[in-house]
Amino acid sequence: MKKIAVLTSGGDAPGMNAAVRSAVRTAVTEGYEVVGIKRGYSGLLDEDMFEMNYSAVGGIMEKGGTILRTSRCEEFRTEQGRARAAEILRKHGIDALVVIGGEGSLTGAMLLMEETGIPSVGIPGTIDNDIAYTDMCIGVDTCLNTCVENIQKLKDTASSHERAFVVEVMGRSSGYVALTAGIATGAEAIIIPERPVNYEAIAEKIWNERKRGKINCIIVVAEGAASAYTVARHMEHRIGYETRITILGHVQRGGSPTAFDRILASRMGYEAIQSIKDGEFGVMIALQSGKMVRVPYSKVLSEKKELDETLIKMADILS
Ligand code: F6P
Repeated sequence: MKKIAVLTSGGDAPGMNAAVRSAVRTAVTEGYEVVGIKRGYSGLLDEDMFEMNYSAVGGIMEKGGTILRTSRCEEFRTEQGRARAAEILRKHGIDALVVIGGEGSLTGAMLLMEETGIPSVGIPGTIDNDIAYTDMCIGVDTCLNTCVENIQKLKDTASSHERAFVVEVMGRSSGYVALTAGIATGAEAIIIPERPVNYEAIAEKIWNERKRGKINCIIVVAEGAASAYTVARHMEHRIGYETRITILGHVQRGGSPTAFDRILASRMGYEAIQSIKDGEFGVMIALQSGKMVRVPYSKVLSEKKELDETLIKMADILS
């Protein structure tokens, strides 16, 4: 095995650059030739790739987004698309891939390997933290810090005006971001797809606190549970606050990665190359109880990551 390609795919996540930097530098040091593929699987199908050396990844760790750029590629979802990708990789003499992305991207890598024999190692990069068998994905910590910073600002203006804010955060079908951002900001209510929502009970609790003299209210809702508009409709006129809506949106995906994400991504990039060196393919690098481990794609992708029940119970007590 001589030549490795690295790509980032799906929704970007802060820290992806640190993973690219680490994978490239480790691979070069181990004697591999390295190619960067632009725009994920779309760039692969367009043969949009370039040689990368040790200095090609200088000064990128602190940058948000991904210097390799990214995309969600329809053609790669088809077997024909993946067969064409394999031909292109063989034509360019690429022996293995490092794929940095979320569930869809890792599924693509798994199918590519099963159908065409192109070996790969995956690195979980998504702000959603919805990938099983890893405690954290790259980008989650930075996303949470962005949520906390912004919700804290909303709390300031909420207090001045004695208002409620319904804040919608990302996470696709996972409530992880909403739950943890809600805990970290002391939100009055957290609405997540993992458990049924009882608008009556939430409204009553907020109204009682309002009567006791509370002057602000933050309700965090996961996009996968309900829209902020729906939640606000259920709340206004029942909670004693004028209600405003904020959808945090794609700010959650940007920004310079936190120290945690930089270190996590560096460890994962390094471990991905160790795995290639050991000839262990078809695995995702994961963080489990502080350690780097390798988990087969088939295992990772056949399970839905569950939210920690204790966190949910704790949030109920603390909010
Ligand atoms: O998977 C990351 C994510 O940001 C989700 O939280 C969100 O639902 C989705 O991507 C948004 O996708 P897009 O960038 O295509 O708008």
